[in-house]
Amino acid sequence: MNPATFRSAEATLETPVAPYADSGPVAACVRSGLSTRPRRLPPWLFYDEAGSVLFERITELPEYYLTRTERGILTAHASEMIALAAEGKELRIVELGAGSADKTRLLLAAAVAAQGRVLYEPVDVSATALDAAQERIEREIPGVTVAPRVMDYVHGLDLDAEGEDERRLVLYIGSSIGNFDPEDAARLLVGVRKALRPGDALLLGVDLVKDIPTLLAAYDDAAGVTAEFNLNVLARLNRELGANFNLRAFRHKAVWDAVHSRMEMYLESLAAQKVHVRALGLDVEFARRERIHTENSYKYAPGQAERMLESAGFAAAGNWSDADGWFGVCLGRAERNV
Ligand code: AVI
Repeated sequence: MNPATFRSAEATLETPVAPYADSGPVAACVRSGLSTRPRRLPPWLFYDEAGSVLFERITELPEYYLTRTERGILTAHASEMIALAAEGKELRIVELGAGSADKTRLLLAAAVAAQGRVLYEPVDVSATALDAAQERIEREIPGVTVAPRVMDYVHGLDLDAEGEDERRLVLYIGSSIGNFDPEDAARLLVGVRKALRPGDALLLGVDLVKDIPTLLAAYDDAAGVTAEFNLNVLARLNRELGANFNLRAFRHKAVWDAVHSRMEMYLESLAAQKVHVRALGLDVEFARRERIHTENSYKYAPGQAERMLESAGFAAAGNWSDADGWFGVCLGRAERNV
């Protein structure tokens, strides 16, 4: 999966757990998120195996403009981005998340074209996702050496020292930053900055504010794939915690929140109902139309991503967009010590 594999350490579920575990990250967030009002569940719950497949399908939907628009920007400007980041030194590329095949490939291929080879360090909490990325990328792009790093980058990044003649470029593309509330996004960027040396760079992909019908369609597609992706969270709780959510008794809702400039996703109860979560011995009562908040996806104003980078200790060094101004990719250069 990708983009930027929006998983957190809490979501690292690769150690087999007994069925219906009453402890662990899934149990903890369900206990806290469903036993109080308003009900909420964190977006990393989307990305179990089934959810990751559904996410890949979302990225190919006609309504989900984000992936193809960002890919278009990278196709047009990858060489320039690489040259700006490298400043004549040898670039190492770090990616937060295990790497979306085609978008990362554009940047890696541009780096190989510029310097003959490149060291690629994908960072992810999932060793499985990293193994798959390593195998695929080394096979498909000669000149790339993959050095996977298993790490929870959301809570800080710990990278090896690079050589004097090297520069690092961290990729955080795919608008993954948009799934964090502003304070968490700021903290994440500062964490990245702290792991870098002055002169290193961060390439950030952000979704920009646009007309509301386009945004609503992107998060509520005609084929119902986003609805399935959202409802899969309840299916996951049934599978992993022995909950008895009836998936037909909830519906997917996508809402534009103009005050916070974000798309919000909810699961709305179609009737008054009680759900039992066996692993937790928890009964959750839902009123008719009561919602579970599952995701925020922030949409930025032009210039906002650059300001976020600057507040985290980066100087804006490059900025690219598509002809419609729907998506932005910014390069920030680590400038001062933070
Ligand atoms: C991963 N992330 C950037 C996606 C987004 O657009 O916020 C997740 C997503 N949610 C619904 N569709 C896609």
